[in-house]
Amino acid sequence: MDDNKLKKPVYTLPAKEEKFELLEKKNKEALLGGGEKRIEAQHKKGKLTARERVHLLLDEGSFEEIGKFVMHRCKDFGLDKEYYLGDGVVTGYGTVNGRLVYVFSQDFTVFGGSLSETHAEKIVKIMDLAMQNGAPLIGLNDSGGARIQEGVVSLGGYADIFYRNTLASGVVPQISAIMGPCAGGAVYSPAITDFILMVENTSYMFVTGPNVVKTVTQETVTAEELGGASAHSTKSGVTHFSCPNEVACINDIKKLLSYMPQNCEEDAPIEHYEQQGDERVAALNDIIPDNPNQPYDMREVIEGLVDSDSFMEVHKNFAENIVVGFARIGGRSIGIVGNQPASLAGVLDIDASTKGARFVRFCDCFNIPLLVLEDVPGFLPGTDQEWNGIITNGAKLLYAFSEATVPRITVITRKAYGGAYDVMNSKHIGADMNYAWPTAEIAVMGAKGAAEIIFKREIAEAADPEAKLQEKVDAYTEKFANPYRAAHRGYIDEVIKPEETRAKLMKAFKMLENKVANLPKKKHGNIPL
Ligand code: HXC
Repeated sequence: MDDNKLKKPVYTLPAKEEKFELLEKKNKEALLGGGEKRIEAQHKKGKLTARERVHLLLDEGSFEEIGKFVMHRCKDFGLDKEYYLGDGVVTGYGTVNGRLVYVFSQDFTVFGGSLSETHAEKIVKIMDLAMQNGAPLIGLNDSGGARIQEGVVSLGGYADIFYRNTLASGVVPQISAIMGPCAGGAVYSPAITDFILMVENTSYMFVTGPNVVKTVTQETVTAEELGGASAHSTKSGVTHFSCPNEVACINDIKKLLSYMPQNCEEDAPIEHYEQQGDERVAALNDIIPDNPNQPYDMREVIEGLVDSDSFMEVHKNFAENIVVGFARIGGRSIGIVGNQPASLAGVLDIDASTKGARFVRFCDCFNIPLLVLEDVPGFLPGTDQEWNGIITNGAKLLYAFSEATVPRITVITRKAYGGAYDVMNSKHIGADMNYAWPTAEIAVMGAKGAAEIIFKREIAEAADPEAKLQEKVDAYTEKFANPYRAAHRGYIDEVIKPEETRAKLMKAFKMLENKVANLPKKKHGNIPL
């Protein structure tokens, strides 16, 4: 036998060093996304890159990337010749103020951040991890939408994300920052998440852009006018925050997270707090004007009640007749819903009801106790409101409060009239503690309206109808424009001075911290949408 035939062939494998070099080369390549030129173009637009955003968001050195070398699979329309490591989205996990979060950040320098099959798979992977491990999901969106070359697989990728957004809703907090384009069906992922933040002048969201709008409705409108941060923070209410720049936006995300637990099984962290200044607390006594028709700013009441500088307003410029936001009382995270007498006398309308309802439901999902500050003359009358569904929309707020099982406290500062008394976290719909200030007026309607209806004939037949009306108004006011009839019934647990309120709230929220309340067993309720 020929000995040579038994010899094994010798392969020369690359040295280990070469393998390490290849890895380093790939890592460097991935960090460059779509390349230096496109990064420069991104910066010129006043935008940060996907990676810069991630590093600003997360604690230094905490980011762990997942799927850095993922590449698209499509070979059509020239994509067989153009590949980028990471495929237009940076995904992974890290910490914000020491707490775990999952993040995806779309990279506009790679095919305009457009969503391919693999890009979607990367996002889906961290969404699954977020849900399974119970930590918030943060999406930094900057994308030209579906990767046009890929067709339906891209649409499928979007649907995979929407589906998980829905499954994750109420399980882990989901926050979407819009830092560039977000158009077409792509808007529906952020819309399902809990909070949207938009950056002024560099981001927009719309279902169809200005060109389609022009063709279909003949309206001429810019992208900014149609779907910029200003439009969505004031007109549509689609975005909860309008941020002057990307750094402010990322700081708002971090602050927002500080009020939330990691998931629906946990409580929000308790923070160290500064005792509220006595002056501010005492100033609460002077806030309610002597004239019951004079406005005041409910934010001043909030500032006097909560831990110093702890109030973060949500949806600030939308439906300003209701104020919602997070704060802390004795270091504990709470959600506040307050009527705002400084805007439309604090009346409840369609926008205020939906704004309030969504906020209440978020707080209830994530075990954040609710404080309601009530000064409401009722629901807004008129054809506009009725024809646009104040009935259905007002019912959302009623439903949201009624099904909330978190600790719920109400303070009636002044008016609590009509159906709005019931809706604004009354005892009857499950509130735990209801306080009223001595300035509270709790009645079916304002004294003048009431007197005009129930004493109509008597007033008409009087020698001096004006004087008669006034007499009846005074009588009704004396009887109902106070908190005592409600307190006699136990609908109000205690009538307290404004200056006592902070201390009462601190004790009551502590007393309620182990509250257990279960809703009747059901698949899910059917909130009037
Ligand atoms: C593939 C895309 C892309 C896309 C942009 N690019 N959008 N590639 N698919 N959807 C690429 C461009 O070819 C370009 O590549 C780079 O990204 C940057 O784009 P520019 O146009 O140069 O940037 P800019 O002028 O800033 O304009 C950005 C833009 C515009 C407004 C987003 O690119 C645009 O209108 N894109 C198409 C948007 C769109 O119609 N998407 C589909 C929507 S439908 P180079 O190589 O030059 O850098 C949709 C359905 C989702 O998304 C449905 C879910 C249910």
